[in-house]
Amino acid sequence: STKKLWGGRFQEQAAQWVDQFGASISFDQLMADEDIEGSLAHVKMLGHTKILPMADVDQIVAGLNGLREDLHAGKLRFTVENEDIHMNIEALLTERIGPVAGKLHTARSRNDQVATDFHLYLKNRLPQVIDEITTLQKTLVEMAEKNVETIMPGYTHLQHAQPISYGHYLMAYYQMLKRDKERFAFNMKHTDIMPLGAAALAGTTFPIDREYTAKELDFGEVYPNSLDAVSDRDFALEFLSNSSILMMHLSRFCEEISMWVSHEFKYLELSDAYTTGSSIMPQKKNPDMAELIRGKSGRVYGHLIGLLSTMKSLPLAYNKDLQEDKEGTFDTVKTLLPSLKVFNGMLKTAKPNVERMKQATENDFSNATELADYLAAKGIPFREAHGIVGKLVLKGIETHQNLQDMSLEELQAASPKIQEDVYHDLKSEVAVERRHSFGGTGFDQVRLQIKNAKKELGE
Ligand code: ARG
Repeated sequence: STKKLWGGRFQEQAAQWVDQFGASISFDQLMADEDIEGSLAHVKMLGHTKILPMADVDQIVAGLNGLREDLHAGKLRFTVENEDIHMNIEALLTERIGPVAGKLHTARSRNDQVATDFHLYLKNRLPQVIDEITTLQKTLVEMAEKNVETIMPGYTHLQHAQPISYGHYLMAYYQMLKRDKERFAFNMKHTDIMPLGAAALAGTTFPIDREYTAKELDFGEVYPNSLDAVSDRDFALEFLSNSSILMMHLSRFCEEISMWVSHEFKYLELSDAYTTGSSIMPQKKNPDMAELIRGKSGRVYGHLIGLLSTMKSLPLAYNKDLQEDKEGTFDTVKTLLPSLKVFNGMLKTAKPNVERMKQATENDFSNATELADYLAAKGIPFREAHGIVGKLVLKGIETHQNLQDMSLEELQAASPKIQEDVYHDLKSEVAVERRHSFGGTGFDQVRLQIKNAKKELGE
């Protein structure tokens, strides 16, 4: 293998598998843009502070700009011998402009360099994640608006509990995504801090100007402690944690979608564009995309636990273990963005089976609370009312009757307070419509949620 950038004190060459095992270039080349951006800012700062003469700075800047063009044109070739993206770029720069390239690394270490690249990488992706979440929120609001009065069973313990509005259901996910966005926005605060200038771990004797570099790179803050700067990966852990929670939300919805398209439920029909067939069973229409997003939540959780485990026993400051921070984070971005996109398309094109959803609320005793409330409103203590209705339900099960199918005489046998107007209250749409309490499923409340959501989305 070729001579190493750090080869001065070495007499023997690394074993070939050591190069292979230690190299990160296969994956950290994803940060090539960020690495060049960081180097440009750093060398400009070296010129600004007169640590390097402007003539050298100009050469290095021109060389880095040339590399960036070639990178975008797909013309850069990286090698395992040069280990990682940082040394690959430096080696390519040396090829291009000669030994003056060696001045770029003045007052810098790969430790603050890699941390800076990683911060920049995430800083560039967080807005994309937030944008995709916003797109999905808009879809939820749009669909909720169409389904304020779509009645469906609300569940607890996966048992029919009380009827709800499908719009209300959709808006519940809107709220989850709102918190997700807030978490990612907070994540940005800890990502927007620049490690560069911490050097290897202790700072540098050169009169650097970290504020200048931070400004060049558009970082809001500079790490105030050099040890922390090179060893902190909280910003990545927060990203993985926030991503895990987001994927959990999508996964719950996907689980429901998978159930709802089943023969037993038939609440929802997915578009052909978001389903797949079976290679053997001609009738099949499988909710593969919902299943795959549900499945992919697992790998994101894995990346979170992976990095937490990598970090937990690391003494300050930099350790090579930290190189393990990247693949899981990259993969999480690669998982999150398409999951959000596909989920959005799947939901946008899904058709609720309005009739079927409503029917499901009419033979399930999910209006039992309505009858209990009816009696309570007539002065019977709620506990007592609960008992009366419980007995009626038992009777209904025995005689195969729903509450609304029983005659007034039958109902009055349970309580003389029951009058003709009870049948109105027993209708599921009435049960939903009347839930005017703030945040409830009442149509007016769902409309209020939608109105506020649109304000939040700037619509
Ligand atoms: N490839 C390394 C990483 O990803 C870069 C920093 C290496 N620094 C060092 N002193 N070995 O963390």
